[in-house]
Amino acid sequence: MSTKPCILVTGGTGYIGSHTVVELMNQGYEVIIVDNLSNSNVEVLDGIERIAGRRPVFENIDCLDYPSLDRVFCEYPQIAGVIHFAASKAVGESVEQPLMYYRNNLGSLVNILDIMQVHQVRNIVFSSSCTVYGQPDKQHLPVDETAPIQKALSPYGNTKQINEDILHDCAHACKQLQVTILRYFNPIGAHPSAQIGELPNGIPNNLLPFVTQTAARLRDKLRIFGDDYPTEDGTCIRDYIYVVDLAKAHVKAIERMLQVPEREQVEIFNLGTGRGLSVMEIVRTFMQVTGVRVPYEIVGRREGDIEQVWADPKRANTVLGWKADTPIADVLMSAWNWEKKLRGIN
Ligand code: NAD
Ligand code: WQD
Repeated sequence: MSTKPCILVTGGTGYIGSHTVVELMNQGYEVIIVDNLSNSNVEVLDGIERIAGRRPVFENIDCLDYPSLDRVFCEYPQIAGVIHFAASKAVGESVEQPLMYYRNNLGSLVNILDIMQVHQVRNIVFSSSCTVYGQPDKQHLPVDETAPIQKALSPYGNTKQINEDILHDCAHACKQLQVTILRYFNPIGAHPSAQIGELPNGIPNNLLPFVTQTAARLRDKLRIFGDDYPTEDGTCIRDYIYVVDLAKAHVKAIERMLQVPEREQVEIFNLGTGRGLSVMEIVRTFMQVTGVRVPYEIVGRREGDIEQVWADPKRANTVLGWKADTPIADVLMSAWNWEKKLRGIN
């Protein structure tokens, strides 16, 4: 396969980043990863290499370290675009340590944009989140990109909103800059090879890693946060999107930036399946497809939880030519296969 342009991926050893690097490499892109390994480890590169058959360039650099980041752009003048995943992402931690979140998530983007301008790199894809929508009003469900942005419920969420504002302001000031903002819903699952996947630190906050760790007997039981919501079975509803489908959307976004000159300068896409699933549906389907029991109990609501949100992904479907279509059974199985691999379970 002929080599395509070179893409710098910040946060490329992380969960979504590593899956995206694989998809970029599978499509022939040259990839340079910048990651400070604050929430990932260097062995992820071995997993990427086993899947893609090549090893991406890796620079162990903090995006807050301007001179080192600048050196990467000097060393690789062929960089055609940046996918910026690097960020801190734990909502609860952001409430306890807001400055760490503002420093890391805002400072990293500011550095990247500044250095891109110096080196005349024009294209950036940014990882945003459905968290910017908060709890949409009923008339906005499923939520499309025109739904109102609501006041953030956490410093983490606020960093995503401010980052989006920074990108709009920079695009306004510099007409050469091309921006794609991708708002992810709830990414889950792992690569079907089980060579890469999610590596949560400590006790998982997110549903799927908690489910797989409970299935692996690392946790006694799953606590389901509330069954008294006004939904069909009383549990919250989310749009769970397979991480490999999500990764492929990034390749589409890069392709469009490099190949479609008549695109809008700033484009925003919701990345979800268009289907909402309840916590209970996820747990039941997981048990069905894996044949493994997940003990659970219903407990009180988790503070700050959104009741229900799912995406209207039509814009991404039509404009990017991308669709999240992996069946949920396969997605849940991939998550379980990854957990088994991590824990040495047969
Ligand atoms: P992750 O923690 O697995 O990956 C982020 C990577 O960035 C890690 O490898 C970490 O070491 C690195 N990193 C953090 N700060 C850095 C810095 N200053 N310099 C260099 N590297 C740094 O997280 P993820 O789930 O892959 O998320 C990727 C992006 O997607 C983040 O921006 C996150 O906010 C966003 N996002 C994630 C979700 C989700 O549920 N996972 C949902 C919506 C949006
Ligand atoms: C999903 C559902 C819980 C754990 C968070 C961030 C958000 C975004 C994605 C980045 C909810 C329930 C969970 C458990 C449970 N990330 N649950 N027991 O809340 O949609 O969003 O991750 O941008 O910003 O806030 O995802 O996986 O935490 O929860 O019952 O042990 O599972 O109540 O209904 P959430 P989640």
